[in-house]
Amino acid sequence: MDDRKEVYKLALEHALNKIEKNMDVLKDSFPFVTINGKWELCKEEDWDLNIFKDGYWCNGFWIGMLWLAYRLTKKDKFKKRAYVLCRLIEPRKNSNKIHDLGFLFYPSFCVGYEVVKDEYLKSVGLTAADSLLSRFNDKIGAITVSGELDKSGLIAIDTMMNLPLLWWAYEKTGGRRYYDVAYRHAFTTMQYFVRDDGSTYHIAECDPNSGQVRGKTTLQGYSAESCWSRGQAWAIYGFALVYRHAKKKEFLITAEKLVEYYIVTCPSDHVPYWDFNAPDIPNTVKDSSAAAITASGLLKFRGKKEFGDIALNILDSLCKCYLAEEDKDGILKQGCFNKPKGTDVDESLIWGDFYFMEALTEAIYIGK
Ligand code: GLY
Repeated sequence: MDDRKEVYKLALEHALNKIEKNMDVLKDSFPFVTINGKWELCKEEDWDLNIFKDGYWCNGFWIGMLWLAYRLTKKDKFKKRAYVLCRLIEPRKNSNKIHDLGFLFYPSFCVGYEVVKDEYLKSVGLTAADSLLSRFNDKIGAITVSGELDKSGLIAIDTMMNLPLLWWAYEKTGGRRYYDVAYRHAFTTMQYFVRDDGSTYHIAECDPNSGQVRGKTTLQGYSAESCWSRGQAWAIYGFALVYRHAKKKEFLITAEKLVEYYIVTCPSDHVPYWDFNAPDIPNTVKDSSAAAITASGLLKFRGKKEFGDIALNILDSLCKCYLAEEDKDGILKQGCFNKPKGTDVDESLIWGDFYFMEALTEAIYIGK
């Protein structure tokens, strides 16, 4: 582990240098994906007008990286900028128009609270968790993605990674509703999204009144029946946390199936192509963010050695072959946001960078 730790420490240094450099340029903007190696920015004030703009769900990740940077270095400037940006996204805590509250508020307010223990951060995190609860459709047994609550029946694999906000709120308050909604959402996801071979669907369209599934499809994957690699990664991380909190064997079995599929279907460097069933493999792009999410999720299975070993193999590969060059803004290269749309392919992705940093920190300082 010692040699590995040295490699991970160097990768974290690479990450911290980039963050420090980018901070001066970004000011109060939020990075989303790079275009030709330069961050494309989201302005927080635009979000409500452009609710379906691609980057609207991402503004918490950069804040999360600033908190991690502060935790690692204790440099005040990271903390100060994190607070400024937290205040900018805070107004979204009351909006339940979209399911992305976990992506937005967990890395920003909850990670921040765990680092500095400020009650302001905790209280905003809990309000955002309440807004997320209100998107739960009891008939479907799941949190819907977007749209009017009584008309919306769209559910997605991505929502598994909005559950950390609810688990955190449960941990802080003991409020049973946080636990119950997270549990039921995970249970429904296990039934509707996880196939027998351990691969996953991306989207299910349900009747919002009866809860019946009308059909399955994908937005970012190759086809309805294929397995979008980032969806698989969200599921692996999501079920790792479900198992950690609910301790039910069926969630562990599900997670094991998901991981087995990931490992068996991945190329030998453990970094998947954008879709496990893309027809032009190996002549197509990879998604390094799916690998970073998977590694970080696997490190959450404390005590399951095989998963820890897989996580470290993924991290080794990311550190060896996927660090973005010095003149690029991002930390990891070769991410893929949306291949079917042809956008942001073979670029850095802010969530890939966040989960990579989270996994490195966990591997060096916490779990191992
Ligand atoms: N919507 C989250 C993702 O693109 O993975």
